[in-house]
Amino acid sequence: MNSSTAPSGLLGDTAARDYTRKLRLFNAFAAPELRQAIASLALKPGMRVLDAGCGTGEALGWLAAEVAPGGAVVGMDLATSHVRAARGMASEDTALVLQANLLEAPLLPASFDLAWSVNVINHLRSPSAGIDALGLLLRPGGRVALGQSSLLPDMYFAWDSRLERLVNEAVRRYYRDRYQLDERDLTAVRAIVGLLRKAGLPDVHARTFMIERIAPLRPEDEDYLVEAIFRDTWGSRLQPYLTKNDYEELMRLCDPLHPDFALRRPDFHFLQSFTLVVGATAQTT
Ligand SMILES: C[S@@+](CC[C@H](N)C(=O)[O-])C[C@H]1O[C@@H](n2cnc3c(N)ncnc32)[C@H](O)[C@@H]1O
Repeated sequence: MNSSTAPSGLLGDTAARDYTRKLRLFNAFAAPELRQAIASLALKPGMRVLDAGCGTGEALGWLAAEVAPGGAVVGMDLATSHVRAARGMASEDTALVLQANLLEAPLLPASFDLAWSVNVINHLRSPSAGIDALGLLLRPGGRVALGQSSLLPDMYFAWDSRLERLVNEAVRRYYRDRYQLDERDLTAVRAIVGLLRKAGLPDVHARTFMIERIAPLRPEDEDYLVEAIFRDTWGSRLQPYLTKNDYEELMRLCDPLHPDFALRRPDFHFLQSFTLVVGATAQTT
């Protein structure tokens, strides 16, 4: 089976899927914390790094800078549009970008010091199969670093926890209906520590970074929150899951032209967690 005929993942990923814009917005928004997470790995010049599910490729340059001189970075993604964007983002000197399913990676076993993979295993029908596949690509003593956003619930409306709770529940119900998934399917990925231990990695560590923003926001923060969250994650698709009053209030808070727009409130305070779980393989096989 090649990447274009691979079955769609848990959240509908295929070679033809394209959410380039959302990935670019997220990486511009979370760049400071993602770079901090990469720095926490203490990579060394000369190391070989794989970014599995590299999306639009922003991390490729950040990883390459940590392993220079003499290092190598390979990006791999299932989606044609994401691979095209990643190739545009990283010059050939920075990283090689492959279109492939990470479950059937066309790469030599035991050839990487680090497999970095952010917000990807929650897209797989079997996160364990993904971790096993990445583990095979690591040299003895190599590490797999799995990043996952929002293991803690995000805070959007510091002044209205009720509306936030209802919106989060509406998003869950939307995903349940769209992908026929129940809450357990969507939250199974919280157990990353357990999944890495189950995969036989002897040395597992976890660290959570907080993405924290208050008004006034940087343009990157505003673009991400308005487009990727307020419009595309919430927006009209949540209307069936909220009462008329709650939906209308949400729309006022999300509308940049409305006086109640959340991001211009002096009490705007946003929190999102980013958790990095790192498992090291044994030094010798
Ligand atoms: C939420 S995005 C994260 C992208 C990137 N890591 C980032 O943090 O911006 C998930 C990515 O995983 C890719 N993906 C999903 N299933 C995959 C698979 N089986 N093999 C390779 N890539 C996959 C998708 O195409 C998408 O680019």
